[in-house]
Amino acid sequence: MDKIQQVIKDEEKYILGTYVRPPIVLDHGRGCYLYDTGGKRYLDMVSGIAVNALGYGDKNLIRAIARQSEKLIHCSNLYYTAPHVELAKQLVTSSFADKVFFCNSGAEAVEGAMKIARRWAQKNTGGERAGFVAFTGSFHGRTFGALALTDRKKYRMPFEPLVPGARFARFGDAGDAEAKIGVDTCAVIVEPVQGEGGVNQADTQFLHDLADVCRRRDVLLIFDEVQCGLGRTGKLFAYEHSGVKPDLLTLAKPLAGGLPMGAVLVNEKAASAIEKGDHATTFGGGLVVSAAAIEVFRKLKKKSFLKAVQARGEYLLQRLEELAGQFPSLIVAIRGLGLLAGVELTVDAGPLVGSFRERGVLVCVAGPRVIRAVPPLVISNEQIDFFINVFTKVLGEAEQDGGQET
Ligand SMILES: Cc1ncc(COP(=O)(O)O)c(C=O)c1O
Repeated sequence: MDKIQQVIKDEEKYILGTYVRPPIVLDHGRGCYLYDTGGKRYLDMVSGIAVNALGYGDKNLIRAIARQSEKLIHCSNLYYTAPHVELAKQLVTSSFADKVFFCNSGAEAVEGAMKIARRWAQKNTGGERAGFVAFTGSFHGRTFGALALTDRKKYRMPFEPLVPGARFARFGDAGDAEAKIGVDTCAVIVEPVQGEGGVNQADTQFLHDLADVCRRRDVLLIFDEVQCGLGRTGKLFAYEHSGVKPDLLTLAKPLAGGLPMGAVLVNEKAASAIEKGDHATTFGGGLVVSAAAIEVFRKLKKKSFLKAVQARGEYLLQRLEELAGQFPSLIVAIRGLGLLAGVELTVDAGPLVGSFRERGVLVCVAGPRVIRAVPPLVISNEQIDFFINVFTKVLGEAEQDGGQET
């Protein structure tokens, strides 16, 4: 048995079977490429699901991690340490926020935001306000609270009852959100660009109207930017596209360059409700992840970096539009902002992922019929061209196979 087969066999034996994986074993990465154990190279249009913003092998990031690892890796939140304070200062001075809470993942950031919102409501609005309004197509994570706000039956149903009090309004419909806000609601949560739900950008007017509704009804507004934040859309934060500022904002994925880190950005209004001991996590804001995040953030926030993301994002969308013109029977719509792109197909997207991979490109899906491209933010136009060439071949093959399903 070769090494690949051995890893796959051992995984089946020892790892809980929650993931479906293709039959390759990834070994190392450089720039925007990943290499498997057989040495085959893949252009990475997934980047660890919108995580590896700087690609692979960024020297400064590696040095920052190594330097901090030599000094001190962990000492808990019982003591003062400097790196997370420096990171928080940078996040606050670059955003709407006044305070930051650090945690370890996107779902944990959402849980944190939910707890802060409940605490705020408890202290400021009286009565029992514990519920949330989320939106159709939303994805906020797999823990009980985040899952309660996630509009995906398949993920929710096997684990019910979830955290009670969640209602779903139509994405893009502030009037429906207002109708769903009850006397028991403490906050509304929305992704400025839905990622997992199929790459759907929230309309600017919708976000303005939603903020207005939240103000009038005295509930907090939470933006989940776990996937669309931190440069992915060509702005440092996705909310900057609309100019609408939330009360709380969740971050994770690219924050620490591939190390696990999440954050909740909080304005003074919401932060003032929190007392010592209200929330905690052992690893949150640890020294190594914070040192990594400082380095990632130093790069991401540069105007020149964000401008380049915008330019490459526009190029990607333009090339995808050309592809849509070439395959009208297979492509329903091109959606996206910056380097978060979705291609909605008339056929199931899942089976095409393998055809991309065989031709040396990794892509992922966002729902059943959407191919999603979330490459490292340092991708070049030539690499985008390669992706489009492979996409053309994959769709050509699908067309020959009798493609159209709807
Ligand atoms: C918008 C959004 N929120 C939350 C999450 C959950 O993040 P994590 O997988 O780090 O828990 C995701 C993950 O895809 C996400 O896209």
